[in-house]
Amino acid sequence: MRGYLRAGYPFLAVESHEEERVLEALAALGRELGRPVRPISVTAARRKDVEHDARTCLDAVSAHPDAAIFVLLDFHPFLGDPIVVRLVRDLRGRLEGRSQSLIFLSPHVELPVELETDFVVLEWPLPDAATLRALLEAEARAARVPLDAELAAASVRAVQGLTFASSRRAFRRALGEPDGLPSGNTEGLVAEKRRILKRTDLLELIDTPPALDAVGGLGALKAWLLEREAGFGEQARAFGLPSPKGLLLVGVQGCGKSLSAKAVARAWGLPLARLDFSALFTYGRSPEQSLRRVLRLAETLSPIVLWLDEIDKVFKSVGEDESGSEELQRLFAAFITWLQEKTAPAFVVATANAVDRLPPELLRKGRFDEIFFVDLPSLAERSDILGIHLRAHRRDPARYDLAELASSCEHMSGAELEQIVIGGLFRAFRDGRDLTMDDLRIVAKATVPLYRTYEDQIKALREWAKTRARRASTDHGLAELWAGQR
Ligand SMILES: Nc1ncnc2c1ncn2[C@@H]1O[C@H](COP(=O)(O)OP(=O)(O)OP(=O)(O)O)[C@@H](O)[C@H]1O
Ligand SMILES: [Mg+2]
Repeated sequence: MRGYLRAGYPFLAVESHEEERVLEALAALGRELGRPVRPISVTAARRKDVEHDARTCLDAVSAHPDAAIFVLLDFHPFLGDPIVVRLVRDLRGRLEGRSQSLIFLSPHVELPVELETDFVVLEWPLPDAATLRALLEAEARAARVPLDAELAAASVRAVQGLTFASSRRAFRRALGEPDGLPSGNTEGLVAEKRRILKRTDLLELIDTPPALDAVGGLGALKAWLLEREAGFGEQARAFGLPSPKGLLLVGVQGCGKSLSAKAVARAWGLPLARLDFSALFTYGRSPEQSLRRVLRLAETLSPIVLWLDEIDKVFKSVGEDESGSEELQRLFAAFITWLQEKTAPAFVVATANAVDRLPPELLRKGRFDEIFFVDLPSLAERSDILGIHLRAHRRDPARYDLAELASSCEHMSGAELEQIVIGGLFRAFRDGRDLTMDDLRIVAKATVPLYRTYEDQIKALREWAKTRARRASTDHGLAELWAGQR
């Protein structure tokens, strides 16, 4: 902002919910540059009994002879008026000649095409940790709640990503509740953040992601995750390692891609947020703008795992000339640029099913650290997965012959194996006894795996993956299976 003002840019637009904070910062900048800040809003004009509309506001700007920074508050609704738009454009020469700048400040900036190229649109950064720390300390003093360093740091981490005003509200509430900050509990703050993020609908914080040992098989993927975990620390930076960027999991449906994506967060002890790409299109502003906002938010929340599920569904028409809309192309370009250039430790885990729909640019080196292919589970992996689901339903796997069951479940996915355990439990429950091996056998026998229907697609997927992805499984049984397929 300082740079633009110093360089004498006449037109700027700032998108922020934090009017007060932005005006304060602008006032400081204005003092530094010797250009007083003049906030203007249609309601302010009304109070002074002047004719109060957008045009009068602009006339007032036009009539002002001295250096100044005009801040037009919540002006965007008036930009639908062609005369207002023209008046703004007419101001350009005047503003430049008098070292004046005109800034639109509102929570939502959407410029008409006539103004798009004239304006520089800036997003106001959310408060950083030091600012939040100072705020918290001031609030705690006022509430007479003593905070130790650890609790203060945890509280700041808990609200990071919120605006200044929301953080203050969250701090006040948590300081005022006896079982909140006074008893060392930051859960209220985290809940507040989740509530606020929920309202944006673009980033969803996920409470308790599954642990890595809820994922059966996929040994190579797990080994990679454990190796890369250390990549997040200061020591890794000092050693010269780049911060891990992200992971793409492609593969057969129901084999644990989404499950593993979530488990990464738990394995690395990081918060997990899900970014819903399709929601970007329904958010009431340009998807690209929404994306930038949500990525910036993710960066403020980092270190974090950012989960993008089923990206093939969103990006399927990128590159197809007719159906791929320009909006989507821009969104995609913005996303891969961010992926490549981000420095914040926001680790992206993306999943995809139909790889032929993925734009090749996404798969290029430098976008993701690794691309893993998740195949149907091998014999040993099936037995592992069955054991996990028996345990999840409070049954001791040792009481069942998993090797036999697994061998009768050829071509089944993890999701189908889970259904076998559940189906068996239903049978047993119906008959008023505990689960037996027979229940599992019978349900397995009656199950027709999706493989029957999708055999060709799955084989094509394997073929694709051979040269483009690493196998997520360490199991050698699969290698034979692959060889047999040729
Ligand atoms: N490897 C596995 N280990 C344990 N459970 C699994 C595994 N794979 C799948 N499951 C079970 O099946 C469910 C569905 O799996 P998941 O959603 O991860 O599949 P997916 O690969 O994302 O499929 P899709 O392509 O359809 O999105 C999981 O929640 C889990 O209960
Ligand atoms: Mg999935």
